[in-house]
Amino acid sequence: MAPKRILSGMRPTGKLHLGNLHGALGNWVDLQNSGKYDCFYFVADWHALTSEYSSTKEIRDNISSMVIDWLSVGLDPQKCTLFVQSAIKEHAELFLLLSMITPLAWLERNPTYKEMKAELVSKDLSTFGFLGYPVLQAADIIMYKAYGVPVGVDQLPHVELTREIARRFNFLYAEIFPIPEPLLTGVPKLLGTDGRKMSKSYDNSIYISDRGSVLLQKISSMFTDPQRVKKSDPGNPEICNVFTFQNLYSEPETVKEIDANCRCAAIGCTDCKKILARRIAEVLKPVHERMDYYLKNPDEIREIIAEGNKKATKIARQTMGEVRAAVKI
Ligand code: TRP
Ligand code: SF4
Repeated sequence: MAPKRILSGMRPTGKLHLGNLHGALGNWVDLQNSGKYDCFYFVADWHALTSEYSSTKEIRDNISSMVIDWLSVGLDPQKCTLFVQSAIKEHAELFLLLSMITPLAWLERNPTYKEMKAELVSKDLSTFGFLGYPVLQAADIIMYKAYGVPVGVDQLPHVELTREIARRFNFLYAEIFPIPEPLLTGVPKLLGTDGRKMSKSYDNSIYISDRGSVLLQKISSMFTDPQRVKKSDPGNPEICNVFTFQNLYSEPETVKEIDANCRCAAIGCTDCKKILARRIAEVLKPVHERMDYYLKNPDEIREIIAEGNKKATKIARQTMGEVRAAVKI
């Protein structure tokens, strides 16, 4: 039996941070390496336009820096298919056809839509494209007849809408599309250096590409247990973001030692952070080596994407052949 296909995408927001690495991206790599799935991962650049339509100049550079991050952390074009949404025009055609059968009410009640519109007040998101965001996402997913969609909880409403749209298509025309399952990613709660959610827009992110003095400086500026003012105060690792990182990066014995020593004030935060910075640098060393390689070989990135686009196009053309026949258009 052919391995089940899974598909996921990311908007090209530029370089990725450690929150991304230990969330969605790490999960993509694990799914790829499990050998159980036929993995398709793509850059959702048309989706980026839904909110960035008035400032598009960074999108292209963001695509390549994001793909470099993907490859550096271990996505392997020998094991998965990497492509760019806007290169596969069939997505636009399927999006159009799906838009005909998607009731407006389904889109208007989408919680992600309501939240984002309320949050991003600086942008005018009262557009047709923004409302239709999940319809484009549905097209992305069902185009490849994906069985599973690895996403974080924030994307669950979109996968749910995809399922409804796919069912409606199957009901109206022909049973073409399998109904995709969300594959939820368990995400450790990594905060930014200032203790808020790690996010590019808060300027509190530690990037996958950070190293040397930049990395050291960011880690030394991290918020710790707020009750621990002086080095002689005992600390509580359970509420310390530095400790969350220690858990991810340091050896279990070191973590245990830090846990005990923090609670009895035998270790200070400065030393704890030095240990962490050294460890992150060590773990990311092979990632940074691959990154340097790809930065020096941009042609290789272009080839990888061209190859992935070709594979995706083949499937998309086949699906659209079936879709046009079913819709009789
Ligand atoms: N909406 C997703 C996000 O913002 C990106 C995305 C677009 C996607 N199309 C997709 C994710 C298809 C999974 C499947 O993260
Ligand atoms: Fe956090 Fe480490 Fe300081 Fe304890 S010693 S509060 S774990 S930074």
